[in-house]
Amino acid sequence: MWQLLPPAVLLLLASAGTQAEGLQKAVVSLHPQWDRLLERDNVTLRCQGAQAEGNGSTLWWHNGHLLPSQNSSHFIASASVNHSGEYTCQTSRSSLSDPVQLQVRAAWLVLQAARWRLREGERLELRCHSWREKPLRNVQFFQDGRGRRFSHRSNAFSVARASAAHSGSYFCRGLIGKLNVSSEAVAVLVEALATPRVSPGRLILLCLLPGLLFAAVSWLCCSVRRGLHSLSRNRTNDTVTWRKSLQDKQEQ
Ligand SMILES: *[C@@H]1O[C@H](CO)[C@@H](O)[C@H](O)[C@H]1NC(C)=O
Ligand SMILES: *[C@@H]1O[C@H](CO)[C@@H](O)[C@H](O)[C@H]1NC(C)=O
Ligand SMILES: *[C@@H]1O[C@H](CO)[C@@H](O)[C@H](O)[C@H]1NC(C)=O
Ligand SMILES: *[C@@H]1O[C@H](CO)[C@@H](O)[C@H](O)[C@H]1NC(C)=O
Ligand SMILES: *[C@@H]1O[C@H](CO)[C@@H](O)[C@H](O)[C@H]1NC(C)=O
Repeated sequence: MWQLLPPAVLLLLASAGTQAEGLQKAVVSLHPQWDRLLERDNVTLRCQGAQAEGNGSTLWWHNGHLLPSQNSSHFIASASVNHSGEYTCQTSRSSLSDPVQLQVRAAWLVLQAARWRLREGERLELRCHSWREKPLRNVQFFQDGRGRRFSHRSNAFSVARASAAHSGSYFCRGLIGKLNVSSEAVAVLVEALATPRVSPGRLILLCLLPGLLFAAVSWLCCSVRRGLHSLSRNRTNDTVTWRKSLQDKQEQ
């Protein structure tokens, strides 16, 4: 029967098959990982996604405009403010990625984070990055206006196990030569651990449920059987009484 179908129909069926499979989303990642940059920084955007055989092409969009690059790595050398915005990508066998936001600032300092949203217990990692890596001294990190860390040389601030109390608005400042410079403030969000969906009580109930069901069904069976039994017994009794009353009547 397959041999009878015209090739065009087969092709249509085949493509419908691949559509139905549901392609996985491509994923954009940044190398280095920072999504907030200063002018003249370099960054490579990588697109991860499945490729069809013999087609290694990757499509890139910046703020919805298709970029000429078809490489899975998109290199931005010497970033400028106009490289800011939303990047998405797609490979030959993936669907469009979620967007990654890149922000390029014309400033002396920028606060960078491995991630701006994290869960309680995860590592909070901040970095005070200076324009063209100019030496930075007397570095201070602030959370909601309060000084959290001072260092003569180090431009890094990290908390091994962040808690909800580490959420807030952060900025950093320091000296570049004689210049006293500050970064913009950025929000960090540490989310409380989600409570387990199924509470222990419910879990126990779930474990007991099959047993309870079995007990309920057995009880139902037994009582039905008992019911039928007594019903048939009653019927015999009825017959007996009926016969008896009939006899009584005849005797009268
Ligand atoms: C794609 O990017 C990689 C890594 O940057 C590079 O080695 C390769 O030459 C590029 N390929 C093309 C066709 O530009
Ligand atoms: C950025 O890329 C350019 C061009 O490839 C290179 O000359 C420069 O050294 C890079 N800068 C850094 C900080 O890696
Ligand atoms: C950004 O602006 C520069 C000039 O300042 C220009 O050469 C470059 O092509 C622009 N890049 C983008 C992504 O628009
Ligand atoms: C490779 O895949 C891309 C993206 O799906 C597509 O636009 C392009 O036509 C394909 N090229 C070849 C040679 O098949
Ligand atoms: C930078 O200026 C602020 C006031 O804007 C001041 O409080 C701070 O001490 C100065 N930092 C340094 C390292 O001098």
